[in-house]
Amino acid sequence: MDSYTVIQLGNPLLRMVSEPISEDLFGSEKLKKMESILFKILEEKQGLGLAAPQIAINKRAIVFGMKQHPIYTDLAPIPFTVLFNPSFEPLSDVIEEGYEGCLSVGQLRGKVPRYKTIGYRGYDANGNLIEREVSDLHARVVQHEFDHLDGVIFLDKVTDHSSLGFHEELIRSGALPSKKAD
Ligand code: NI
Repeated sequence: MDSYTVIQLGNPLLRMVSEPISEDLFGSEKLKKMESILFKILEEKQGLGLAAPQIAINKRAIVFGMKQHPIYTDLAPIPFTVLFNPSFEPLSDVIEEGYEGCLSVGQLRGKVPRYKTIGYRGYDANGNLIEREVSDLHARVVQHEFDHLDGVIFLDKVTDHSSLGFHEELIRSGALPSKKAD
């Protein structure tokens, strides 16, 4: 079994622009394997999303999904999705700030402005088009993962630097809710 680790901030691979998946790879074992590795690591690390460059694969591929949010349990689940060659566009000018973290950035969190509602598209491993219009956390995750494909980390987009903090401290100060539900 191959072993993959999630590379961490400071590794120059996280800053590269990833290459598109060539069309003749759709339907291949290679893409199916990439998809299963990404989902496996997403599950292992209990992340919301993961981009291929985070495991040193310089290709335009992302996975994301969530059964139930650990804190905001009434949030709509996000279907577990792989997108090869993803793209998105905002569907309105409304921008919202929300806390983000990243499997490549340890326990640091910060508020990032993102489009509230987007339309996104991409392909599954067989080359089938996936197209959705989404809002809120679902839209946020896709924008975060998409940025990785262009070498952009959420920290680059934190405009209110005073929002930056380590997860535990932000919980202690009340800026972020505790994992334990009230
Ligand atoms: Ni990330």
